[in-house]
Amino acid sequence: MLRVVVCVSGGGTNLQAILDAEAEDKLAGAHVAAVISNNREAYALKRAEKAGVPGLCVSPKDYPDRETYHRAFLEAMDSLQPDLIVLAGFLVKIPAEMIRRYSGRILNIHPSLIPAFCGTGYYGLKVHEGVLKRGVRVTGATVHFVDEGMDTGPILLQKAVEVRPDDTPETLQKRVMEEAEWLLLPSAIRLIAEGRVKIWAGKAVVQTKEGDLL
Ligand code: GRF
Repeated sequence: MLRVVVCVSGGGTNLQAILDAEAEDKLAGAHVAAVISNNREAYALKRAEKAGVPGLCVSPKDYPDRETYHRAFLEAMDSLQPDLIVLAGFLVKIPAEMIRRYSGRILNIHPSLIPAFCGTGYYGLKVHEGVLKRGVRVTGATVHFVDEGMDTGPILLQKAVEVRPDDTPETLQKRVMEEAEWLLLPSAIRLIAEGRVKIWAGKAVVQTKEGDLL
């Protein structure tokens, strides 16, 4: 069984999509073993509690400096023995040592079609503000493996979402979540749990089969 640890900072709607998929047996046996947040107020921790999943908070505010925080965060993660780490709206840069130690086993969800509207400064609503400002007709979401860069790791899944003339950043964010993010993350976890994903020459390769929706 694939042990999954989900890292969150906010509302946790992506976490909820993963928890719901597990409850409906759509994760090919993968199990959310724990949820870690940097923010003790994150509603995502309440979602974990309701689902009976252990939640813990490792907050930078509780440590004198970044290095000590990174060490504590990594120790907490190691103690959970994850097979897969999922960053679901996690707004803290993860320690470089963690990226090395869990290379090829950390996923992130980004609310745009990478390489568009990503990298420094593009997170949360700012992504959708950029999309509307540029006037693109299509946006979407991306699940990618995490490497040392910002939103630069191998792309695993993407899904396009139309931009409507009357969209605001908020309406667009909601549609990208509903039509893309909440489908992509559970699908990505299922594919990995089924052993159908390999990283080859810096690209994620998916062994597709009949009936794959994504
Ligand atoms: C989502 O839009 C996700 O793409 C981005 O941060 C937001 C997190 O939302 N990384 P939630 O906490 O999963 O509701």
